[in-house]
Amino acid sequence: MDLFNVYKRWNIEPVRGQGSTLWDAAGQEYLDLYGGHAVISIGHCHPHYVAAVSEQLGKLGFYSNAVQNGLQDVLAEKLGKISGYDACHLFLCNSGAEANENALKLASFHTGRARVLAFGGAFHGRTGGAVSVTDNPGIRAPFNATDKVTFVPLGDLAAVEQELSTETYAAVIIEGIQGVAGIKLPSDAFLKDLRALCDRTGTLLVLDEIQSGCGRTGRFFAHQHAGVEADLVTMAKGLAGGIPIGAVLINPAIQASYGLLGTTFGGNHIACAAAIAVLEVIEAEGLVARADKLGAWFEAQLVGDPALVEYRGRGLMIGLEVKPGYAGLRDRLLSEKHIFTGASGANVIRLLPALNLPEEGARQFVEAWKALTK
Ligand SMILES: Cc1ncc(COP(=O)(O)O)c(C=O)c1O
Repeated sequence: MDLFNVYKRWNIEPVRGQGSTLWDAAGQEYLDLYGGHAVISIGHCHPHYVAAVSEQLGKLGFYSNAVQNGLQDVLAEKLGKISGYDACHLFLCNSGAEANENALKLASFHTGRARVLAFGGAFHGRTGGAVSVTDNPGIRAPFNATDKVTFVPLGDLAAVEQELSTETYAAVIIEGIQGVAGIKLPSDAFLKDLRALCDRTGTLLVLDEIQSGCGRTGRFFAHQHAGVEADLVTMAKGLAGGIPIGAVLINPAIQASYGLLGTTFGGNHIACAAAIAVLEVIEAEGLVARADKLGAWFEAQLVGDPALVEYRGRGLMIGLEVKPGYAGLRDRLLSEKHIFTGASGANVIRLLPALNLPEEGARQFVEAWKALTK
């Protein structure tokens, strides 16, 4: 048997990591500004994380959700405190797409409505419901076709108002910052108006913070820059530092019946121990504030750079839209400077590094950038 060919991969295999450094089997060192796609929030192999996960694995690796699991309660309490969503309920699952599936299902169950409003450029995952609210027909199969989802342009308040006035929508789903679309920010004013429109029409507001959450933007959630609260918040990626996890933060007014949601692996002992350790490191090392500070440093270095059309982002969720002549820059950063970065299409380089990226790593990137674009 061989692997199903659905990933376009670099011809590099990292075999070891420490902080923001990776090594391949030949000993070549790489600077990781991609963070395994915003997953490596506290760096590779953080000693506190390694100790916590190893210890839990040696005690009890798994038991099903048919029994009590105190680690889930500890995680719920910590996540509530650090996020400011402490009045919420927590549902744990295994991935970002699954978190969005559950959030949309809950919204529909609670409101008794079937429709969902989503935004142009949105990416919410590849499973049935999640791909239906993703603005990319190219990753849908006929089975995923639905007339229950409407897309409107990000920021088009009049279009949202017109749709929601029908009072047929269970939810509006929006990313805190659009990631796959190339780091596109909804304005704070738009998020505030969206909140008000949802309140007026009995529609639930679902904030997908799968990529933008966990402190990455300099607040625990990106939407908190706008001072709004969501009815449902979805998380995954950075929450457990690479052990699969998904989470839905649920406003306590939203109820479900027994059995409506469920999962075999979700909230298992290893995933919970990993997520608790990640939150402990974020708190102990002040990484939310650090993301803010380091993000401001990147911005000061790169805004107005001659190779850029635009610098976008907040904190350490950064989109560098390059001018047409620089379309190969990401490949050159990797092949000539040994730096991993993310991308959105050919002309946006995405930086999603660990929140504890050393300043030296940030400087190394900017120097490499300037050398390749001069
Ligand atoms: C904003 C957003 N939502 C959902 C997902 C899907 O998460 P997963 O790949 O864990 O299913 C992603 C993944 O890139 C994402 O960026």
